[in-house]
Amino acid sequence: MLVDINEELLEETSKKIEEEYNQEVVPVVCDVSNSKQVKKMADQAFKEIDNVYILVNNAGIAANYGNDLLAIDEETYDTIMDVNLKGQWLVAKFVCQKMKSQKFEPLAGKVICTASIAGIVADGAICVYSISKAGVIALMQCLARNLAPKITVNAISPGYHVTGIYEDSEEVMRFTMEEGHVKTPLNRLGTVLDIANVAVFLASTDSNFITGHNFPVDGGIVKVGVPAHYLKTDV
Ligand SMILES: NC(=O)c1ccc[n+]([C@@H]2O[C@H](COP(=O)([O-])OP(=O)(O)OC[C@H]3O[C@@H](n4cnc5c(N)ncnc54)[C@H](O)[C@@H]3O)[C@@H](O)[C@H]2O)c1
Repeated sequence: MLVDINEELLEETSKKIEEEYNQEVVPVVCDVSNSKQVKKMADQAFKEIDNVYILVNNAGIAANYGNDLLAIDEETYDTIMDVNLKGQWLVAKFVCQKMKSQKFEPLAGKVICTASIAGIVADGAICVYSISKAGVIALMQCLARNLAPKITVNAISPGYHVTGIYEDSEEVMRFTMEEGHVKTPLNRLGTVLDIANVAVFLASTDSNFITGHNFPVDGGIVKVGVPAHYLKTDV
């Protein structure tokens, strides 16, 4: 089951998966920040696909570049927090209740949350986004405690990967990295596959003894490189 608020993109992606991998997909339009829609989506999931063994909590939006935290308006703050943080909680709330009682052994299911390196080291240019992603890391750990020993819960924290969040533009991303003085020890941009590979590991039985961890996939930026830092003159 593929869930997104963007119907056009959802249809396009579902078709692509069905054609390229001969895998049936159930596309569902849902705003993850809306509890009624999330409940309906979760009910539909258990009805139409029998069980949910792997939940990937991935929906997210970015903040406007260069926002000053004290100047940001309340509506923007609420929207980012509602989608990025409350959305992951709502989806987990409605899916994991039923996931917990699935009769699979040794685990009843697995949850993968998408956080961000901006949730590990606060990024001054995207403050509310950073706050929301730090929240996702805490949410992941609370879920891991609550749902053990039946369900594992881990997070992936991407660094800089060209996707929709960067308007699918390498140029936009390079500009963002240069403005933030980012240094990547592994000296290349991240790809979608870099993230997918870790997600596949976390979804597989190879990771069955891992829960409550956040995996940065960032070419070394956070631990041995230079994460985004902005001087007052930059923003
Ligand atoms: N691309 C990166 O470098 C990067 C870095 C750190 C974290 N992330 C995180 O990775 C995740 C995936 O983002 P992406 O980079 O693939 O960007 P993306 O924009 O391509 O994907 C995000 C998806 O979330 C969907 N979405 C937005 N609001 C929604 C809502 N209310 N309900 C349901 N779906 C909604 C969008 O339609 C989109 O398909 C996000 O959580 C993002 O914060 C990405």
